[in-house]
Amino acid sequence: MAPTGTDAETGMKAVEAGAYRAAMAGVASAVHLVTTDGPGGRAGFTASAVCSVSDAPPTLLVCVNRSSSAFAAVAQNAALCVSTLSAGQGEIAASFGGGTPQEARFASGRWYELATGAPALEGALTAFDCRIVRRTEVGSHNVLFCEVVALAEAGAGDALVYADRRYHSIPVGMVPAAQDAA
Ligand SMILES: Cc1cc2nc3c(=O)[nH]c(=O)nc-3n(C[C@H](O)[C@H](O)[C@H](O)COP(=O)(O)O)c2cc1C
Repeated sequence: MAPTGTDAETGMKAVEAGAYRAAMAGVASAVHLVTTDGPGGRAGFTASAVCSVSDAPPTLLVCVNRSSSAFAAVAQNAALCVSTLSAGQGEIAASFGGGTPQEARFASGRWYELATGAPALEGALTAFDCRIVRRTEVGSHNVLFCEVVALAEAGAGDALVYADRRYHSIPVGMVPAAQDAA
């Protein structure tokens, strides 16, 4: 048997979790609210672990910690919405980022629905309304593959970014629109 912290197949040592987290703190990422509603109830959390998988069909992946207060609802519901936050939305990101009871999180912000019934946040840069099509467990998190069934109209404004364990804003919209690659 491989020694603790060593990969059984390769014999390579795993990186220590704290060192991994410190390295990830230096990686700048977009900030999203992941929200859900359905038989498991309404819930949501702030997420940076969201990325595009494919455009055919349009698919995102979302990683959710199984110990988070939103997990039971996410596990039972069939849909979620990813609202990508704009620069002025740091306060709601902090509220959904842990410690606040689920229903209190939804007291701030204005919400609407696209196709699935999952709440989308007004004023977000964009929102991806999704059906959860596949789920898998990796470490402490579940990875959700989410097919995008509706999009919000793109909002305007600077983007909210998380880096070095704090929020920053960066200007967007500097590239002329409608310049599709040939
Ligand atoms: C900027 C930021 C990004 C986060 N990204 C994720 C993520 O991708 N997945 C996740 O499960 N939790 C993420 N979290 C943590 C959850 O938002 C939060 O811890 C979660 O709501 C658990 O707290 P709770 O149990 O009080 O709800 C992030 C938090 C912050 C502040």
